[in-house]
Amino acid sequence: MPTVVSLTTIMIDGTGMCGGCRVTVGDETKFVCVDGPEFDGHLVDFNNMMQRLGTYKTEEDHDHKQCHMDLAAQKAEA
Ligand code: FES
Repeated sequence: MPTVVSLTTIMIDGTGMCGGCRVTVGDETKFVCVDGPEFDGHLVDFNNMMQRLGTYKTEEDHDHKQCHMDLAAQKAEA
């Protein structure tokens, strides 16, 4: 069954220059920002894509916690 997927990868410049959105589709390297975001779902290397999506997980978790602490402090001050 033909399957088209729309990918949401990390994007930085959106011009195909930074490589942040790089994915492997079949035997080719593609950039979601300029080549996609739709690709043949049977050819996307999802394991590699998910690994790349986790690159900044530690920083994102830290920022998420910091954001909640800042909101709690703002509520306490109000
Ligand atoms: S967002 Fe930089 S290459 Fe696609």
